[in-house]
Amino acid sequence: MNNNLETVWEPKSENVIRDMLELKEKYGIGEFRAIELFGGDGHTLSNKMAEQCISFIGYDINPEKEEGFKQNVVNGEFRCGDSVKLMMTMKAGEIGTFNLISTDDPICIYGEDYCEHFEILNYVHKLLEKGEKVLCVFPVVPKPYNTDKEENGAWMKRREQFYRTMEINLDLEKIFAIYDELFESQNLQIFERKYTCREYRNGVDWMYEFMYVLEKK
Ligand SMILES: C[S@@+](CC[C@H](N)C(=O)[O-])C[C@H]1O[C@@H](n2cnc3c(N)ncnc32)[C@H](O)[C@@H]1O
Repeated sequence: MNNNLETVWEPKSENVIRDMLELKEKYGIGEFRAIELFGGDGHTLSNKMAEQCISFIGYDINPEKEEGFKQNVVNGEFRCGDSVKLMMTMKAGEIGTFNLISTDDPICIYGEDYCEHFEILNYVHKLLEKGEKVLCVFPVVPKPYNTDKEENGAWMKRREQFYRTMEINLDLEKIFAIYDELFESQNLQIFERKYTCREYRNGVDWMYEFMYVLEKK
């Protein structure tokens, strides 16, 4: 009998990067000047994104991530801080403007009662130059796991509120409407949006990367 219950993760980062580059080309977005609001040590995706960028700033709340980030993201600049708080409180343009914005957030409730990218995406407009097309990318989890564990109850509730559905598993086509509204309410024009599977877990396509081509009006 095989009692090996090891979880098998199958990342598809190369597909994410391929689709990002296709959108960059299609919309004539210039060389990427990137900001990653959850840089971590960069070993998962930030390192591969940074290879496509002329500059790459990674924020992370945990100072212990800096050393790994510097090794994994050789052209990156690490900044330590709470990026949700920063985005909520800063003035538009205060930390510069970018044409690649990524929020590789924790997939749970974290910090000061933040959940996934549900708060931070409301402030993306502060990172954009008027009239410049940009790519904004973020992970979306249509098939979360361990959802019946008690400790995940509050997270499931937050997802229900944000996605306005009682369904735990999300229909990716339907939830475009949630993000469309969120960006349009910031006076951002949407040129295209798509999603690409970013990772399989035990053969299940649990995590996607959403990509929006935006312009500040
Ligand atoms: C999914 S990981 C990032 C992975 C990374 N982008 C990569 O490619 O390897 C999420 C990161 O968010 C950081 N984090 C959590 N809360 C944060 C906050 N409020 N502000 C900034 N970073 C935060 C965590 O320390 C963690 O490193």
